[in-house]
Amino acid sequence: MRVIAIANQKGGCGKTTTAVNLSACLAQLKKNVLLIDLDPQGHATVGVNVKHQELSKTMYNVLTSKAENKARLDEVIIPISDNLDLAPANIMLSAIEQELSGKPGREAKLTQAISLMVTNKTYNYVIIDCSPSLGLLTFNGLRASSELIAPVETGFYSLHGISRLLETVNLIDKQLNYKIQVKALVTMFDRRTKFSHEVKEEICKYFGGKVYKTLIHNNVKLKEASSYGMPVIAYNKRCRGAEDYTMLAKEVVAQAKAKKIITKDVQANAAEQQTENAPVQPKEQEMPVKKGAVFTFHDADAQKVEIAGDFNSWVGSTEGQMENIEKGVWARVLHLEPGKYHYKFVVDGKWIIDPKNPKVERDFSGNVNSLLEIK
Ligand SMILES: Nc1ncnc2c1ncn2[C@@H]1O[C@H](COP(=O)(O)OP(=O)(O)OP(=O)(O)O)[C@@H](O)[C@H]1O
Ligand SMILES: [Mg+2]
Repeated sequence: MRVIAIANQKGGCGKTTTAVNLSACLAQLKKNVLLIDLDPQGHATVGVNVKHQELSKTMYNVLTSKAENKARLDEVIIPISDNLDLAPANIMLSAIEQELSGKPGREAKLTQAISLMVTNKTYNYVIIDCSPSLGLLTFNGLRASSELIAPVETGFYSLHGISRLLETVNLIDKQLNYKIQVKALVTMFDRRTKFSHEVKEEICKYFGGKVYKTLIHNNVKLKEASSYGMPVIAYNKRCRGAEDYTMLAKEVVAQAKAKKIITKDVQANAAEQQTENAPVQPKEQEMPVKKGAVFTFHDADAQKVEIAGDFNSWVGSTEGQMENIEKGVWARVLHLEPGKYHYKFVVDGKWIIDPKNPKVERDFSGNVNSLLEIK
């Protein structure tokens, strides 16, 4: 069984469209698929035509710690079509973060639920549609997964904040001692615009080439299909969207053959679950934070990159050390109050303005600095 999270905290980048259509296309390739809706918006649930208001049991019941509401994962599953099942969600799921706050083992609830599922069916794929946040629900989704597909749309600010997603993945890797395979998926691609091609290049650079070859083009049929609560292959199997997602499903399947994907994680996590107070539980302060400014800098040759500005009294070395998260990619999250900040990167001792930020301002002595405004 391959457990794949579809996540990116940026809203509207195509997570649900990918989760629903990849699941449907894998099912069409005769793979047994369980689609888990892990978003209180319930879009994946609606996307396969399940009325989310009328559900008596949802992913809320699976993840809750309240004994009177608790259900096993197999107890909430709804069959959708040949080879495709759904574990649905609705707004109730939004209560989980609060409910589980401070509870031991809260980050591994989904892992546990998957491993304790009682079913005579063998799922080849579990596809998890995550919400646009990096809170406890997404953390659960990532932790239960051995792979992450990060849809990135080809638009302005499409990479904004992605380093926080990768930081979260790194945090989980460290806790669990294995690597979640991360791959970006370029979505809403418009081959006619130069801009789309440029952003695609950026995405490839950012993810160090770990990007699906399949591009998901902008295709209005995908939008139409979701408004009818249908996967696109059921709505219009000849359209571009159906072709793209079929190709993606084939690429995902082939990827497993080409390279043995980790499959032991579910069992490993399950074993870890036996002791709910296991020492790998992160401390509260290590949980992903909700607010912060993400700074990224690209330079394949740099040995050391720091950020210095108003926020750290222009002393890079102590407060502003940036982390080399991927080859050539440096990132740092700073938690800043609303306000105006001037800053520069210090790359191997050389001060430079942020090449990706067009906003600059001169200081009293005529020096040009990058400008960041947090509202
Ligand atoms: N390739 C595409 N071409 C055209 N429209 C698309 C495409 N992919 C997604 N859309 C549309 O864009 C909107 C956002 O897509 P989707 O709901 O999949 O994003 P999301 O990342 O799941 O959003 P959220 O962060 O709110 O969960 C939807 O209306 C969807 O139909
Ligand atoms: Mg969604």
